[in-house]
Amino acid sequence: MRIGMIGTGTVGATIATKLVELAHEVKMGARAAANEKAAAWVEAAGAGASAGTFADAASFGELVFNCTAGVHSLDALAAAGEENLAGKILVDVANPLDFSRGMPPALSVCNTDSLGEQIQRAHPDARVVKALNTMNAAVMTNPVGGVVFVCGDDADAKGEVTQLLGMFGWPPERVVDLGGIDAARGTEMYLPLWLSLWGALGSPDFNIAIVGRP
Ligand SMILES: NC(=O)c1ccc[n+]([C@@H]2O[C@H](COP(=O)([O-])OP(=O)(O)OC[C@H]3O[C@@H](n4cnc5c(N)ncnc54)[C@H](OP(=O)(O)O)[C@@H]3O)[C@@H](O)[C@H]2O)c1
Repeated sequence: MRIGMIGTGTVGATIATKLVELAHEVKMGARAAANEKAAAWVEAAGAGASAGTFADAASFGELVFNCTAGVHSLDALAAAGEENLAGKILVDVANPLDFSRGMPPALSVCNTDSLGEQIQRAHPDARVVKALNTMNAAVMTNPVGGVVFVCGDDADAKGEVTQLLGMFGWPPERVVDLGGIDAARGTEMYLPLWLSLWGALGSPDFNIAIVGRP
């Protein structure tokens, strides 16, 4: 499958590397066509990897990932182009973390709204599925146990993302469907606790496990 990776950070590179290993073709997009991180990733990932702008990546992908800094995701996806996202599954991994007042970051949207919902409203023809945002990048494609959440308004899109997650090492019984895209509020609002756990545990490579699950 051709996949567009919107984002050149650790998350984008981690997921894009796994996708290329799985024999998908991946185009990584940045604000500028010439981006050092994207070029380094293409060099390292080899055949099947390419780079361009956010719009190049979105138009290339049959399925698209949003792995941009959450406070800038709406701008990044606007640059990717509504027409390039229409009808496509858009896997939103971003968290709306606002670092402008230092650590710990605040959530730029929460409680009665979420970044996932903002993205779905801004791109009504895209099939937004929020996933993987509750764990560190390394855990996304190398699970340490526990569960991964998905939510979104399009059941078929969630089904396809669940299949893709299976290839990342998440069997269907460890994928928890939380319902519509409004459930992104909860997964995004977990981030302050995730950050505290990182401090308490001294490592970011942990995950949520559900006990007592029927
Ligand atoms: N790091 C993790 O382990 C982790 C885990 C779970 C979720 N997340 C979430 O995943 C997302 C990606 O995280 P990350 O650490 O890989 O990278 P990041 O540093 O948060 O984001 C990098 C991407 O954001 C884009 N960006 C930055 N400023 C922008 C602006 N003003 N306008 C448009 N785009 C802009 C960059 O564009 P250029 O390529 O042009 O520089 C780059 O592609 C974030 O939302 C983060 O909260 C991260």
